[in-house]
Formats: sequence, C-alpha cells, structure tokens
Amino acid sequence: MKHFLLIANWKSNPQSLENACMLARALEREVKKIRGVEIVIAPPYPFLVPVRRELKKAKLGAQDSFWTGGPYTGDISPEQLATLGVKYVIIGHSERRIYHGETDSLINKKMKAVLEAGMSSILCVGERERIGRDIPAIVGEQIRGALREIPPRLYRNICIAYEPVWAISTTPGAVPDTPENSFRASMYIRRVLADMAGKKNSGSVRILYGGSVSQMNIGSFVRDGGVGGALVGSASLNRKTFGEIIRIASRAR
Ligand code: PGA
Repeated sequence: MKHFLLIANWKSNPQSLENACMLARALEREVKKIRGVEIVIAPPYPFLVPVRRELKKAKLGAQDSFWTGGPYTGDISPEQLATLGVKYVIIGHSERRIYHGETDSLINKKMKAVLEAGMSSILCVGERERIGRDIPAIVGEQIRGALREIPPRLYRNICIAYEPVWAISTTPGAVPDTPENSFRASMYIRRVLADMAGKKNSGSVRILYGGSVSQMNIGSFVRDGGVGGALVGSASLNRKTFGEIIRIASRAR
C-alpha cells in the first residue's frame, strides 16, 4: 500500500524568507518523527531552494508550472523546477482557475509538460458551489480536459485532488466536505479515469481530498474518505497543527 500523501500548499505565504525557512525547519522536525506518511512541502517559487535545504524527509513541491520555457516573461518551466529538485507540482488549483482564468486546455498542456519532465502532478478539480448530493459533471469535464491525450503510461505519476471550492478555508462561508462525499467523489473520479484509460491505469492514480483539512477532520478522511492523501492549505502554515495532522494521519491508516 502506498503511503498516505500530505501536501502542504503554502500558497503565497509566508512573506519573508526567514519565516519560510523557519516554518520548513519546524515541519521537517515533525515529519522526521513519523512513518507511513509521505509529506510534500510546496512553498512559493522564490523559497524553493532555501526551503529544499531545510528538508530531508519531506519532499519539495511547486504550486504551479508553465508548460514550456523560452520567451514567456515571468513564467517558470517544468525543466527549471525539476532541476531544483521539485518532485510534485500542483496544477489547476481553483485559485489559478478563478483569479488567472486558467482553462482546461492550458491545464492540459501543463500536465503533459510536468509529467514529461519526470515529476508527479497534482491536478486540482472541484465544483464552485455545493449542489445537491451528486458529484457535479464539471468534475468529470475538468478531468477529461486536463488529461486529454496523456499517455496512460504516465498515469502512475498523476494525483487528482478533489477540492470543492466551497470547502476551501478562504472561501467565505466555507465548510469542510464530509468523508462520505469525499468517498463518493473518489468513486466518481475512478469511474471517469477507468472510462478514459482502463481500470489498470486508472488504479495507479492517487486521489486526494482538499478543503479545510484540519487536525479535527483528517482522521475521518483517512479512514472513510476513500482517498490516498490530502492537500492542506491554511493548516500547513502552523507547525503544531500540521504536526498533529501528520501524526493523526499516520495513526489512522
Ligand atoms: P485549505 O486550502 O486547506 O486552507 O482549505 C486547501 C487548498 O486550497 O489547497
């Protein structure tokens, strides 16, 4: 069985290099004590190298990548990230879809490029508003769009994070999803993947949950959420809280 995967998505935090290194050091100390959980720390771009220096057991992640290098002012290529030691790249986070207008076709290019560069990608999908009990069709559309023409041999390096926007802690009125709904989303995602690439390839994709994950709910997501990992935003910026999340996840397996 693969280890439970916990991704710390720092977003655009913290604001100083000193605080980023301090946080990375503190999280690494927590990670060192624990077994059975794989931890990825995804700091903002300028802190990738200094944070990497603080990490031994935890792996380095990036929060996005452009799809190529060259005449693209301000963009970062997958090759550049790979050369820094980045192992996982978050693609298609709702904040990028909403604030930067990222489309499924751009996300598809990024996914291909990240995978071809030898890194794992964490594709974020999820509906904006909570509607009824069924997983909305938009989730399937986002997956089909993002994985278009990706060779099934690369599926084992894909993670899909179900992150309903209404559950992300910074969305006004956010509430965490329930493990039951996360389980339904995970089954739904598996069906979409199996339709696209067959049961065997789809089985190698890791499915994660994200949205207000905390020390209060991580245990129930590990046990009943039908997922192999979690994407953690706000709670990953606090050493004690994240340390507790790691400990609970490793015990709940
Ligand atoms: P949250 O963020 O844990 O603060 O809800 C998750 C995310 O947006 O990736």
